[in-house]
Amino acid sequence: MSESVAEVLRAEGLVKTHHGEGAPAHAVRGVDLRVTGGEFVAITGPSGAGKSTLLHLLGGLQRPDAGSLWLDGERTDGYSEARWAVERRKRIGIVFQFFNLVSDLSVADNVELPALLAGVAPRKARAGREELLTELGLEGKERSMPGELSGGEQQRVALARALVNHPPLLLADEPAGSLDSKGTREVMRLLSRFHRRGQTILLVTHDARLASAADRVISFFDGRIADDAELDGGTPPRRAGTSGVLELRD
Ligand SMILES: Nc1ncnc2c1ncn2[C@@H]1O[C@H](COP(=O)(O)OP(=O)(O)OP(=O)(O)O)[C@@H](O)[C@H]1O
Ligand SMILES: [Mg+2]
Repeated sequence: MSESVAEVLRAEGLVKTHHGEGAPAHAVRGVDLRVTGGEFVAITGPSGAGKSTLLHLLGGLQRPDAGSLWLDGERTDGYSEARWAVERRKRIGIVFQFFNLVSDLSVADNVELPALLAGVAPRKARAGREELLTELGLEGKERSMPGELSGGEQQRVALARALVNHPPLLLADEPAGSLDSKGTREVMRLLSRFHRRGQTILLVTHDARLASAADRVISFFDGRIADDAELDGGTPPRRAGTSGVLELRD
């Protein structure tokens, strides 16, 4: 069963139909996916393709109508909501387009909270928070409230919060989708940096340019994987004059 490289995520036959006001939306129509430790996978595709739905299924934020899911080799699709909440704290970090920070908690508390909820001792949670905020260039912002920060700063706080428990898997849904080009570069540079240190990342983006920072790109179309390709070298592109390629290196 177990290969030399750990399988962080495995999905088989995932299906999800949304039943809203209008006609049912067949958002995910049978997805098989394996992600191994250390991979940086981008899922790209047009609006409405089902990318966010897929990410939500993988993170247990929504339940599949059919299919199976494994995290670190352990079957998770039978988990209760409560169990998922616990597992997410420890094993999955999630970053969204609009940060989803707790607006009436300070930056420090936003980052420490998941650690405390996971049972980490307060002193250790604090040390982890300090290290991450420094790493992400947010020292001095600990006491700020999220509303006092720029979008890019808020997203870095969200990244710190997602990573504070050192989850084996980071799920990011359009993490730069509401940022300007500077904020976008910042977030992508940080994702690349964590990836180089071994962080497994699944990034959803409709922006093919951002997807090129990954070492594997999945094209998602109409609820299905249309293409799944390794990128050469797996290294992020360098800035080439004004070509529009993002500078992602430190
Ligand atoms: N909660 C919901 N209720 C009803 N329909 C939904 C719901 N969430 C998503 N859908 C529908 O499911 C389909 C896939 O949506 P999804 O958000 O997964 O797409 P996406 O690829 O993330 O798009 P975008 O790039 O715009 O974020 C769309 O047709 C959408 O309208
Ligand atoms: Mg989406």
